[in-house]
Amino acid sequence: MEEIEIIKPDDWHVHFRDNNILKAVVPETTRHFARAIVMPNLTPPILNGKQAIKYKKRIIKNIPKSHNFEPLMTIYLTENTNKFELSESYQEGLVFAAKLYPAGATTNSESGVKDIKKIMPILETMSKVGMPLLIHGEVTHKEVDIFDREKVFVDQNLDFICKELPELKITLEHITTKEATEYVWESNENLAASITPHHLALNRNALFVGGIRPHNYCLPILKSEIHRKSLVKAAISGNPKFFLGTDTAPHLIHDKESDCGCAGVFNATYCLPILAQIFDNERSKNKLENFVSKNGAKHYNLKFNKQKIKLTKLSNKLTFKKYLDIRKEKVKIFEPDFPVFWDIF
Ligand code: NCD
Ligand code: ZN
Repeated sequence: MEEIEIIKPDDWHVHFRDNNILKAVVPETTRHFARAIVMPNLTPPILNGKQAIKYKKRIIKNIPKSHNFEPLMTIYLTENTNKFELSESYQEGLVFAAKLYPAGATTNSESGVKDIKKIMPILETMSKVGMPLLIHGEVTHKEVDIFDREKVFVDQNLDFICKELPELKITLEHITTKEATEYVWESNENLAASITPHHLALNRNALFVGGIRPHNYCLPILKSEIHRKSLVKAAISGNPKFFLGTDTAPHLIHDKESDCGCAGVFNATYCLPILAQIFDNERSKNKLENFVSKNGAKHYNLKFNKQKIKLTKLSNKLTFKKYLDIRKEKVKIFEPDFPVFWDIF
């Protein structure tokens, strides 16, 4: 029987939400992951250390006793964030990182940053204390095509931040383009990038072929095959600058299948079997551990997890559960358009 044994993985980008959704989705992540960076885009967002700690407690309450898991909390940056409070929350260990959402870029980003220049003093303070900056890297100007928003952000904003603050530890999150991949590849060691399983698995045809497919709609939006290939190349390269951030982002079915459907793919449940399949298809199983268990920890100066997990190759393809129940409602579970023969036992 073919097996892959790896250090227990971490997820460097999750959305746990709150209340009933939180309750249902937390175990889906904590079952296989040891740590995760938790996004602060609740409504209203997590704006300071005190709110982050309260949210952390609500998460911890919902971790099954048999799961060993640590949530790493984040603060949502606005133009009004107090840089002293922010760095204090980081230095006291209340939070792990700060998240930059350009205003209007994605789900619950209304109070995000309109003008990056306005937050440069905050970023400078973060750089001084070593606090990581997590970036949703898309511009939001109406005149920029939705498929170009990431590469324009890299050109106009990321390059500026990196040049001004070369010591700042930055993660360009959920990258989707060849341009972003190449920029990160060639940058100094303080810039790294996370990649999601759905951007590795699908190209933008998955949004439109055979009819409109709202469950594959996420932001940054899926790109064409050239871009997907460059992400796969980065993920399987073993290059420590690239690591897993699933961006698992649950929305109730009726919010996705709607006149104006929400962006976000819920992929926590089968994320690791899907990734094992992708790496297997690329004859790169030996690089899976770098991508899911080692590279992120290195970037964030954390120790590797002590526990291990084993993935096993099945003789029949894995049958996916279609939905996660949230009381009387449901969230659709991400399933790629190719067979998966791996599972975790
Ligand atoms: C995320 C969400 O639903 O909160 N949606 C998404 O499409 N990725 C927000 C985000 O990370 O951009
Ligand atoms: Zn996200």
